[in-house]
Amino acid sequence: MRHFLTLRDFNKDEILAIIDLALQIKQEWHNQTQPLYLERKTLGMVFEKSSTRTRVSFEAGIYQLGGMGIFLSNKDIQLGRGEPIKDTARVVSSMLDMIMMRTSEHSRIEEFAQYSSVPVINGLSDDYHPVQLMADYMTMVECGIALPHASRFYPSNPQKPIVAYIGDGNNMAHSWLWLCAKLGFELRIASPKGYEPKAQILEQALQEATKSGARIHISDDIHAAVQGANVVTTDTWASMGQEDQKKERQEAFKCYCVDSATMALAHKDAIFLHCLPAYRGQEVSEEVLEGAQSRVFLEAQNRLHAQKGIMVWLQRQNTR
Ligand code: CP
Ligand code: NVA
Repeated sequence: MRHFLTLRDFNKDEILAIIDLALQIKQEWHNQTQPLYLERKTLGMVFEKSSTRTRVSFEAGIYQLGGMGIFLSNKDIQLGRGEPIKDTARVVSSMLDMIMMRTSEHSRIEEFAQYSSVPVINGLSDDYHPVQLMADYMTMVECGIALPHASRFYPSNPQKPIVAYIGDGNNMAHSWLWLCAKLGFELRIASPKGYEPKAQILEQALQEATKSGARIHISDDIHAAVQGANVVTTDTWASMGQEDQKKERQEAFKCYCVDSATMALAHKDAIFLHCLPAYRGQEVSEEVLEGAQSRVFLEAQNRLHAQKGIMVWLQRQNTR
């Protein structure tokens, strides 16, 4: 059984095959020739945290592919009242074709997947946000910064991209680490001291990087990270579940705002990405978020296509 819990569990060919499929699915959607790849399939969507993009893109995505989604908020289901994950997973997976889960500790989704009889997709955990990274890479491909697998959509031949991630060493940073380590590009993470990515995840990604040729730099130097980068990206300073640390984080991160002066250090054709929701005046200035280099709304819309690609790929893998 293949799940989609972290990019660590996928090789380069598989990641690029899903990106290719997502690009194809997007084209079919635009041309109104989308086959019903998941006709009569039912996706359960377990949310233990809030969401706008993840919920809408999965629910609209499964519907457009001929299936349907069931929104399962922990405020409404027995999981939120303490029913064990292993019981919930066995029951709901016996009635569904696929499950997406957004949760806190990553071990919760691992346990869910262990007891599920159908594929489970991570729609964000405290440690990872892999579906977001698939949309981000797809956006890089569409912007001519990275290559799709078969290079059939874009004639140009870009160099390996340099990605600068500015800010918290959180689920987004960890997911960038794995994407970079698997695909072999250059990633520079600049975080304030004490807010770097988790040491264990970094170590594993660095090991993988020795095989793929990826280059990973971690520092607290925002300017060095951004110098010549093709992609500049950031994320909120206080993730869901860290609301009580907002004040101390605002103090610790105050020099880590991506503003026009930061963008001026990047490559002249650099794009700005942000998974959203964004906090203007904190991790990014209004000017950058709304500026000519920002691709955040293309990135957000690509969640729809990237996740359709993931769902169709998983369905194909698991019905071989
Ligand atoms: N980027 C993202 O996952 O957004 P939501 O929290 O709105 O789903
Ligand atoms: N790091 C953020 C991402 C939100 C999509 C969080 O976990 O809240």
